[in-house]
Amino acid sequence: MKTFNNILLAITMVLTALPALAEQPVIDVYKSPYCGCCKHWVSHLEENGFTVIEHATDNMGEIKARFGIISELASCHTAVINGKFIEGHVPASDIKKLISEKSDIQGLSAPGMPAGDNVPGMETTQGNAKYDVLAISKDGIEVYSHYE
Ligand code: CU
Ligand code: CU
Repeated sequence: MKTFNNILLAITMVLTALPALAEQPVIDVYKSPYCGCCKHWVSHLEENGFTVIEHATDNMGEIKARFGIISELASCHTAVINGKFIEGHVPASDIKKLISEKSDIQGLSAPGMPAGDNVPGMETTQGNAKYDVLAISKDGIEVYSHYE
C-alpha cells in the first residue's frame, strides 16, 4: 500500500510539473566554443524564458548546410526550435512569435553581424542598428521584422 501511495504521489508531482515545462520553450543552439557574442545571445534567450541546450562545435558550416542556410543568410550561431532554424542574433520576441503561429516558414535569420543596442548579444552602447530579421520559406525570403 505504501508503494502504491508513493506511485500516486510521484504521478501527481509529474502532472503538476508538466504545465511549467510546456511554458518554457526549449531551443538548441549550435555555436563555436570561442564565440563571445553567441554566449551573450544565449543569455538573452534565457532571460526571456527559453531553456537553451548548447552544442559547441568547430564545424558550423555543416550545421548551416543541413538547414540550407546560404552564405547571404549566414551569421555566427545557428539555433533550432520546433524543427525551424534561427540564424544569428534574432531577438527572442521574434522567435516567440514564430513558434506561436502556424506557418510554413523554415527559419529566421538576422544575416551577418549587425552591431547595435537593439541587437541582442551585439550591444555597443553607441545606439541602435538598422537591420532586418528575414523569414525563409519555400516561397522565398521575406522581411519578418525590421529594426532601427
Ligand atoms: Cu554573433
Ligand atoms: Cu553567435
